[in-house]
Amino acid sequence: MKKKILYIGLLGLGTVGEGVAELLLKRKNKIKNYEFVLKSIVVKHLHKKRNISFPSNLLTSDFRKVLKDEEINTIIEVIGGIRPAKEIIIEALERKKNVITANKMLLAEAGSQIFKKAQENNCYLGVRASNIASYRLIESLSSSPSEIKKLVGIFNGTCNYILTEMERRKKDFSFILKEAQRRGYTEKDPSNDIDGYDTAHKLAVLLGLTSGYFPPLHSFLIEGIRRISYEDILFTKELGYRIKLLAIARRDNDRLEIRVHPALISRNKAISRLEGVENGIEIQDEVGVEIGMQAPGAGKYPTATAILEDLISIAKGRKITPPSDKKEVNLKKIEEVVTRYYLRFEALDKPGVLSEISGILGKYNISIQAVLQKGEKKERGKESVPVIMLTHKAREKDIQKALGEIRELSVIKEEPLLIRVEEGIF
Ligand code: NDP
Ligand code: HSE
Repeated sequence: MKKKILYIGLLGLGTVGEGVAELLLKRKNKIKNYEFVLKSIVVKHLHKKRNISFPSNLLTSDFRKVLKDEEINTIIEVIGGIRPAKEIIIEALERKKNVITANKMLLAEAGSQIFKKAQENNCYLGVRASNIASYRLIESLSSSPSEIKKLVGIFNGTCNYILTEMERRKKDFSFILKEAQRRGYTEKDPSNDIDGYDTAHKLAVLLGLTSGYFPPLHSFLIEGIRRISYEDILFTKELGYRIKLLAIARRDNDRLEIRVHPALISRNKAISRLEGVENGIEIQDEVGVEIGMQAPGAGKYPTATAILEDLISIAKGRKITPPSDKKEVNLKKIEEVVTRYYLRFEALDKPGVLSEISGILGKYNISIQAVLQKGEKKERGKESVPVIMLTHKAREKDIQKALGEIRELSVIKEEPLLIRVEEGIF
């Protein structure tokens, strides 16, 4: 039988698009005996300097040209964002083209709709690159007979890189963020990374692909790492923890708890040891089976490789298994979550301060496991010193009420910082 040739329209030639073009051109369009012809590349700025060389007639800034080209049977969308990526993907599927996308933001928002469109048009929809660190696990979870009981993951390469390098090189947040941008790890708008949204997009896509329920972003807690200082990294180290930006999902009888936030995790736990751009996921299913994996979470070649795997799947004639139809899900409210907390207060260094703070915590049944008071006012150039408290288990609703009162104390000089503690799985 004659092998089908994939004629490809590549939309986007940034970090990821460049990786895809480079790998395809380097392999002279042949991978594992399958033939892939890169026919067009769509960019926004036609005259921008590119880091790879390719025939100039491939380049266009008109995505409609690619959509109308009947020979192109596969498009790779690595533009990012919602517009025009969504209309491009929908139209490509309506024109019976296979689609590969790395766009977790779009999939989190419209994953069900896009999968439905792919199925109606009998097209392949490849989304491996949207969750590069966990897609192999997603594939096996999708066919697992058991439901996820608990999931803990590091899904953002940029944040893990920032937190690791802050500790390793004693540098501040903004210095390392600039480096992550230079390395091509960040989203176009890096606040998507550092404010937790990219992690939330990937968690929503993972849950959507494995359970059929794509949780809307407004329905769960999303916090980022902006407020974490080098001092927090030092204090948590002293207490035996690392800070990681985590995606957490946990089934509590008929309710699902979903949250994304920085968390203290014991330095003995496997997930706390993931460094740099490495991401990881740990899952415990309802019958107690525990699995995990780790892989690079961002960057040109890991992402381009995931896209090439989808190309090979298309060439092999693989069909998609769309996620099941959305089920109603009863989400647990964040106020009901019970966990331990790390609290940092910037407080005046004078007698009675600790008892004022602990008095309010006590009023809300929050007991303290450890207290640290560090630094001198003079050496920090501030009128306050940090007071760190690690609590025993408490209810989120109570801790928020207590913080509401503590922030009003005249001895408190900055907005208190709260970081939840997570036990992890392995
Ligand atoms: P970049 O910002 O580096 O590249 C975006 C590319 O899209 C650029 O080439 C740009 O053109 C082009 N583009 C933007 N708008 C348009 C438009 N309206 N019409 C045509 N072309 C357009 O993004 P990345 O490569 O980093 O990311 C791409 C996608 O991959 C995103 O969805 C991202 O979330 C995802 N992803 C990224 C990873 C990473 O490590 N970077 C990892 C996994 C997924 P021009 O060059 O002319 O400006
Ligand atoms: N900005 C993303 C990250 C890219 O840092 O993880 C990979 O999805």
